[in-house]
Order: sequence, then structure tokens, then C-alpha cells
Amino acid sequence: MTLATLHAAPGRLAPAEAAASSRLPAPWLASMDLPLIVAPMFLVSSMPLLVASAQNGVIGAIPAGNARNSEILDGWLGELTAALASGRGNGRPAAPWALNLVVHRTNARLAADLAICVKHRAPLVITALGSPRAVVEAVHAYGGLVFADVNTPDYARKATEAGVDGLVLIAAGAGGHTGAMAAPAFVAAVREFWDGIIVISGGMTEGRHLRAAQAMGADLAYMGTRFIASRESSAVPAYKEMLVAASFRDILCTAAITGAPANKLRPSLVAAGLDPDNLPARGRFDLSNRDRDVKAWKDIWSAGHGVGRVAAVEDAAAIIAALRADYAAAIAREQADPWARKVMG
Ligand SMILES: Cc1cc2nc3c(=O)[nH]c(=O)nc-3n(C[C@H](O)[C@H](O)[C@H](O)COP(=O)(O)O)c2cc1C
Repeated sequence: MTLATLHAAPGRLAPAEAAASSRLPAPWLASMDLPLIVAPMFLVSSMPLLVASAQNGVIGAIPAGNARNSEILDGWLGELTAALASGRGNGRPAAPWALNLVVHRTNARLAADLAICVKHRAPLVITALGSPRAVVEAVHAYGGLVFADVNTPDYARKATEAGVDGLVLIAAGAGGHTGAMAAPAFVAAVREFWDGIIVISGGMTEGRHLRAAQAMGADLAYMGTRFIASRESSAVPAYKEMLVAASFRDILCTAAITGAPANKLRPSLVAAGLDPDNLPARGRFDLSNRDRDVKAWKDIWSAGHGVGRVAAVEDAAAIIAALRADYAAAIAREQADPWARKVMG
């Protein structure tokens, strides 16, 4: 069923039609419990978080750069595929996992990391900070999917012209490098020309937000900040504690740290000896020096607008279980909603 016919269909969709209307591949739907991707986070995503995500029915993602070099990445992905081969222990396959590749021209590791991704047949490759064109052919050749991370409708259109399967729309409020556009407006603008998979990102922290993402016209949502304080993440304990204590007023959006606008935790800037209100200007965005980039993320910590909703350090499985319960409650509320009965006749 196309998007146009879905919108045109009057009344409630029969369950079979509703299932057929998903844009996600059938094996993904079969293995997933929630329309969620645990977002890739530099120096925060970890192999244990990826395994916990996949074994709890959501997609986990990791930046290739979290491995110090391509050989280490090769080892990690070998261990990951072995860990997930036997499925979730309940007879169901593990959810897919994603590798995040920075396709910016200053990333000297791209060719080597892409070769490793092909070797391990990453089910999903999410490109960031550049054109996905260079990776689409290689990933499609083994049956993988490519999503491009974009922060404006113009970049979204360019990515679709490069042949991607999905778009990750980085809307306002996202942790790390952020977009500036409000999520509902962003999804609506992209749905004008794109009927493929959309992931929406920025400030999503609750199960009900996954439902809201679907209602907006997205297929999946990204959550990064919600998982920084998971036990499995690589964030150092002080970062997790700062995150638990922080609220929206502690977030500063600045391009001064990496050269591109990013949401950062003000207390981490202060702890690094910087004045958040008088940050030195930084040059153009550039990834050619990994050590400098690690420094920019290791001590100056990121979080998105949803930071106030992170109240404790928890296992990823517990976070996902809470999201699932809240998602189910949101659907139950929809079914009992008097407004739904009015419009459905
Ligand atoms: C600490 C941190 C590091 C991040 N690193 C990356 C990265 O390496 N690649 C990437 O595509 N996005 C990165 N992001 C952005 C996330 O993938 C995602 O867009 C964001 O966390 C979603 O917004 P939320 O934090 O409000 O859920 C990072 C975000 C954070 C908080």
C-alpha cells in the first residue's frame, strides 16, 4: 500500500492491511518489539548496548569510530554477529543492528570501515555528515539497507537522490550534532517528496513519543540521550551522574566545540575550564584529527532537550521495558479516545 492510498483509505485499517502498510522490511518487523533505534553516539554507544538493544527487540547502532581503528572494529563486529546468532532466547531472532559511518571527506577510515561493514553484512548502515552515495552500492550489494542522517529537507532530498532506503531526520533538540527544524514540520516537509522509511530524532524519551513519531508520519524514532545513562553505555560514571542531575536549562547549543551546532551539557563545559557564555570560536568542521575529535567529545559531554527525563542509571533492558509499557498505554488511550470515535465514525 502506498502512502497516498493509506491516506485515502477511509475508516480503520484491518490488521492485515495495517501490517502490510509498514515500510519496514518484514524480517525487521518480525524481530522488533518497538519502532525504535537506539541512536549511534560517539564514545557512548558500546557493544554491550548494541547486544542489549537487539536482544530486547529494538535496533542498536554504533559509530564505526568508537573502535580505535578498523581492525578493532572488525573484531567487534565478529563478536557481535556471534552473540546475536542464536537470537533472543525466546525463539525469536535478534533485532537488526546498525553501523554509523561518517561519510565526511575528512574521514580517512571510510574505505576500510566500509569494507568491514560489507564483510560482516551490517543489516543497516547509517551515514552521517556527508553524501551517502559512496556507500549505497556496496551495502545494497549484500542486501543491507542504508539510511542517511540529515538535518534539513534540502539535504534529505539530496540523500534520496543518492538511492538511500531511509532518512534519519535530525530535528531540533537532538543530543550531539543537532538540527534546527521542529520535528513535525521536518517530517511533513520530507513526506511531500519521500515515501520511504523516515526515522525522526530529537528529544524523544518516552514510549508515547514513539507513537507520536508514527502519528507524525515517521516509521521509527531515534533515542540517544535516553540511553546515555544505561549501564551498558561507555559514558564514564561522572557523565551519567551529570546527565541524571541535569535539566533542559543545562543544555547549550553551540558550534564552538566541533565546528557544527551541537547540544552540550553546560556543567561539562565549566568542568573543562570553559565559560559556556564566552566560548572561543572554532574553525570549520573537520574529522582529519581523531585525537582532537576524541578530546572534543571525551570531556565535553552532550545531551539533548529530553535530558530532564533521565532520572537514574538503569539497564538498557529496563529502559526498553518501560518504553514498551508506555507505548502500549499510549495505544490503549488512543483506543478509548473520544476524539478517535468522532473521526472514525
Ligand atoms: C554523546 C552523543 C554522541 C553522538 N554521536 C553521534 C555520532 O557519532 N554519529 C551520529 O550520527 N550521531 C551522533 N549523535 C546523535 C545521535 O545519534 C542522535 O541523533 C541524538 O542523540 C538524538 O537525539 P536525543 O539525544 O534527543 O535522543 C550523538 C549524540 C550524543 C548525545
